[in-house]
Amino acid sequence: MFKQLSTTDPVDRVNVILNGRLVEVPGGCSVAAAVLSQNPGYTRTTPVSGSKRAPFCMMGVCYECLMVINGQANQRACCVMVQNAMHIETQQGVGKPLEGRENG
Ligand code: FES
Repeated sequence: MFKQLSTTDPVDRVNVILNGRLVEVPGGCSVAAAVLSQNPGYTRTTPVSGSKRAPFCMMGVCYECLMVINGQANQRACCVMVQNAMHIETQQGVGKPLEGRENG
């Protein structure tokens, strides 16, 4: 669904753990952009209905991109720069990582 525009500059790549899986993503961008490059489908579920949400505004306003980043819940993934060896988890409800996973 999302792919980086072609460029003549080489794109740095970093390795992150996304929902327990080691993946290579573009560096120099937000966690939200990096996660979207992996087509995860969604980044969090709502606390009330459990409906799935994904980044929308990409500028820190809508809070649809909340994820568990390095064990910290409720992080706006669009406001955090991706770094090598980050642990990124889909957030369920008020701040639990994806079911069956531990923080960190
Ligand atoms: S995508 Fe809207 S706050 Fe992150």
